[in-house]
Formats: sequence, C-alpha cells, structure tokens
Amino acid sequence: MRTIDWNDENSTIIMVDQTLLPAEFKVIECDTVGSLCEAIWSLRVRGAPALGAAGGFGIALAALQSSADSMETLFDDLHKVGNIIKSTRPTAVNLAWGVDRVLDAARDAYDTDGMLRILLLEAKAIADEDVELNKRLGAHGAALLNDSDTVLTHCNAGRMACVDWGTALGVIRSAVEMGKEINVIACETRPLNQGGRITTWELMEDKIPVTLITDSMSGHVMQQGMIDSVIVGADRITQDAVFNKIGTYTHSVMAKEHEIPFYVAAPVSTFDFENMEDQVEIELRNGDELRFLGGKQIAPLDVQVYNPAFDATPMEKVTAIITENGVFRPPFLLDEVKYKN
Ligand code: MRU
Repeated sequence: MRTIDWNDENSTIIMVDQTLLPAEFKVIECDTVGSLCEAIWSLRVRGAPALGAAGGFGIALAALQSSADSMETLFDDLHKVGNIIKSTRPTAVNLAWGVDRVLDAARDAYDTDGMLRILLLEAKAIADEDVELNKRLGAHGAALLNDSDTVLTHCNAGRMACVDWGTALGVIRSAVEMGKEINVIACETRPLNQGGRITTWELMEDKIPVTLITDSMSGHVMQQGMIDSVIVGADRITQDAVFNKIGTYTHSVMAKEHEIPFYVAAPVSTFDFENMEDQVEIELRNGDELRFLGGKQIAPLDVQVYNPAFDATPMEKVTAIITENGVFRPPFLLDEVKYKN
C-alpha cells in the first residue's frame, strides 16, 4: 500500500505508522485533524513529500467535517486549520505547500459542495503525482550511478518518506531496476533512527544490499574509499542551502573533503527560492528524544538538550540536485529547475 492515502469508504486518512517500523507494519486511520496533527508531530507520517500529501488530505478532511454554511466561512475556517497543520512541522516546506495547493485549487469552486469535491480531488492529485514524479526523478538520478557503486544515504528518503518509491532511495531503486548493482551504506540517523529503522528495512524488502553505520562513522567510511557518492533527500531548498535531517551537513563536509559527489534528490515542490537560509525556522524537538532510547533512559533526566531536527547544507557543498525535471548543477536557477525537461 501507499505510505499515506485517502480512505473513500470512511472519508478518513490512512497511513503506515512509521514509529513502529521495522518491528511492526501497522496501518492507522486519522479521522480528525487533531489526530492527523498528532501523527505528523510524532512522525507516524514523516518525510517531506509524504507530508505534502498529509497537508492536502488534512484540508480535505477538515472541509468534509466542517459545519460552515457559506463558501467564505468555509474558506476562513480552512485557512485557520491550514495554519495549525503547517505549524506541526515548520521546516519541511512540502507540508505548507500541500495545504496551500489544495486551498488555492478550491478558489475555482462555485459553491461549498464544489469546494469539497475540488479539495479532495486536488489532495488525491498530490498523492498520485508524487508517485509519478519520484519515478521520473529516479530515472534521471540513476544515470549518475555506475554499476557496483556504493552510495551513502542519511535518514529515510524512501517510499516511506513519500507516497511511494522515494527520492534518494528512488534513485537507487531506479538504478537497480536498470540492472545496476548498487550497495547502500545507511546512516543510523540519531536521535529517531529513521535510517536504521526505515531505510534498512525498505532496502532489505527490495533485496538491495545495505549496511548500517552510525552517523559518526561517515567520515571514516569515506576516508577508507568505501563510498562512491552520497545521495540525500531534502525538506526545503532555499537559494543558498539544502535543509535536511540533522547530520546531513556533516556528511556534506566530509564528502567535499574526500572529493565524493554529494547529490540531493527532491521534487520541485521542495524548492523555496523565495527564502534564504537564515529566514527558515529549524524545528526544535523534545529533549527526551535524546534522554531516552526505546523507552530506556540513556542520559540524566535533567540534562540540558539541544535537539534540532534539521540542518542546512550550503549550496557550495552540493554537486547536483536531482528533480523530476532533470539533474541540475550549480548555479541552481529556479526557472530552469521548474521548467526544464
Ligand atoms: O524528521 P523526518 O523523518 O521527517 O525527516 C525526513 C528527512 O529529513 C528526509 O530526508 C526528507 O524529508 C526527504 S524525504 C524524501
């Protein structure tokens, strides 16, 4: 099944609960915006493109449950709901993009019934397009990989981070589909271990060879000549930086030092060229994510913790950005990225 989808029978959002992976594959249902926000905040659904779909479906759900009796009131209510959904994860731009895209589409409606129909159709379109875009992105990126390459990746930019297929892992999947043998080194991705829990599981399901390392081993494996390229996803791409899971910046510095290509794989919807790095809010998460591991205390309960979810990799560290429209090398120009095929 897809990572996140709309359940037509119950008019609810269904998703894989990623907090339980890899021990358990469980599908959960969100029947209120509150439960969706909880699922986003606690990372039951996560990854920029999957959050884009979550934002769209969230607005459709809110509209269906609204008691507003005019288009104007409904619009106002949905804008408020949209702001609440967006605030759950401020760095990943696709969440806000998904909310805004469905709201914009509903402007064409003539009445509230039409609005409901358009909102749901647009949310479903985001999900359908994501799968198709990732396949195109994957095919473009696969051309950068050689047979027998070893690729280092961070966090999870696979099918669980998208509606299906994946961005960074989509590139690897497409290369394998083309007949190339690709080995993956997956960084654990502390503190929530998306790499150790989800990337390894996804790749093993697909029988793609994967080796797990801790985040702090990336410099060592690059120094040992074990890595041919690094491919990561992105949560937001500003004019001057790529925001991705905390730890990505460190890998980019190491890759530059060892002259290893550092690729970013992301759909055009992740670009935010209206902003610069210093205008982006980096999500700060609860310190207990570092004080506990799997429910076990691993640090003093009252230790001060700094827990940013993302970091910013300066553009000069990026060899190329892979999108559904092709592979782009610096300087990255938004018009080219958006329209080139
Ligand atoms: O906190 P997460 O797990 O949502 O962070 C996800 C990432 O950093 C991914 O690399 C990014 O969203 C790209 S997913 C295709």
